[in-house]
Amino acid sequence: MNALHRTLQKLVDEAVEKQKHKNIQRWIPHFHVMPPVGWLNDPNGLCEYEGTYYAFFQMSPFEVHGGLKFWGLCTSKDLVHWEYKGAPLQPDQPYDCHGAYSGSALVEDGVMYVYYTGNVKLQGTYDYINNGRESNTVLAVSRDGKTFETKKLLMTNADYPWDLTCHVRDPKVWKQDDTYYMVQGARTKEDKGVVLVFSSEDKEHWKCIHRLQSEETFGFMWECPDLYELDGYTVLSISPQGLEADGWKYRNQYQTVAGIIHGDFRTDGVPGAFREIDGGFDFYAPQTFVDSTGRRILIGWMGMADADEQYTNRSVEDGWQHVLTLPRELSVRDGVLCQNPVREIGTIWKQKERFEGSYEKHCETDCYELTLLPKEGAWKVILSKGLELSYDPEAKLFCMEFTDKELGCGRTIRGRELDEVTDARIIVDASCVEVFLNGGKDVFSTRFYPETGNYQVEVHGEHVTGDFLSC
Ligand code: FRU
Repeated sequence: MNALHRTLQKLVDEAVEKQKHKNIQRWIPHFHVMPPVGWLNDPNGLCEYEGTYYAFFQMSPFEVHGGLKFWGLCTSKDLVHWEYKGAPLQPDQPYDCHGAYSGSALVEDGVMYVYYTGNVKLQGTYDYINNGRESNTVLAVSRDGKTFETKKLLMTNADYPWDLTCHVRDPKVWKQDDTYYMVQGARTKEDKGVVLVFSSEDKEHWKCIHRLQSEETFGFMWECPDLYELDGYTVLSISPQGLEADGWKYRNQYQTVAGIIHGDFRTDGVPGAFREIDGGFDFYAPQTFVDSTGRRILIGWMGMADADEQYTNRSVEDGWQHVLTLPRELSVRDGVLCQNPVREIGTIWKQKERFEGSYEKHCETDCYELTLLPKEGAWKVILSKGLELSYDPEAKLFCMEFTDKELGCGRTIRGRELDEVTDARIIVDASCVEVFLNGGKDVFSTRFYPETGNYQVEVHGEHVTGDFLSC
């Protein structure tokens, strides 16, 4: 541990302690990972290590609007209750001094190998696209899941293909057939988003073996790639920047999409058509891992970078911002990536109320689930008197719309054309709403800010049955 690390650690711990003393209650989720203070973005290094789930995350402890990035850590035994465990990875080396950016974890023989991007921004007059920026691939090793005893610089920009800009980042590493693979997101000099595929025999020496790209440019930069085999498909997920809105699609500042790779990802693979993983307001940079039960679990950042000024989070007033999504179990059905909350979420609910047709409930708590089985006709759910979730079978349109501007903090409307909605699960946890439709094929996530006590639920629809579940 160098002296800078020690000092940074102390400063982070002090900031966390100070925030604790504020004893903030409003909008604090019960089952979502949140930063103990300051700003949170991407999930990092997701893994199960020695029987405990690890969710690291990008964290700026000193700036609620984002700044110098550390890796914060929350752990859990059940994917539902998370506990903050400090910020074990810090920007304390010349090669990561402007941020320990996103990356992933590989667990092997009781050792946690963490790969991340060391971000460096040189001082001077640069465009920070083609010059002035270093994107270093770094390996940090932990033998106890608490401290990283060594850090090693593995690759610099000179090691990446020549036609790329300085933007290369977010290594995701896994082992397959005795070989290690890594994908990284990149921006070419022609402003095209691509994914680089690397392989290694020893976890330290990496060779770029292939490039995954679409024929037509699909955004100028692909961030946070992930690649995995699931249900007989090879899935590629990316977070592209620079897509234009297209009808109901791509309405957020940045997007996250998944597609199936045709061919071998190592040699000739090409991604097929992409589809948005989440159609709501707050979803970006997801990452997946496989746990000891063999499930492929996804956690995303429930937030958005560079969103316009109207679109905010009221928790900023309380000194913190953003959360991670609930862990979602993945599957592929009919070539579409499906997400459902991990089954452990079901253990939260202790009470259940069944209803048929329209229904109204004033909830005692800010945490509940509504499940719906719409048989026919239009239906609408209204949460906290200002967030409407509706399906119109004639227009074949599902919408998530804020009719109360304060509640949505600048969020307006998102939607998706759907032939049908056979089932819906709506999970509300304080300031987080996640909606799972059609067995998880269509998912919508948003933050919202109900005033304390305004935990009202209304269901309108003649042919709807459902359950209201609460703690
Ligand atoms: C995605 C991202 C990553 C980067 C990280 C920095 O939200 O921009 O590409 O590594 O955030 O915090």
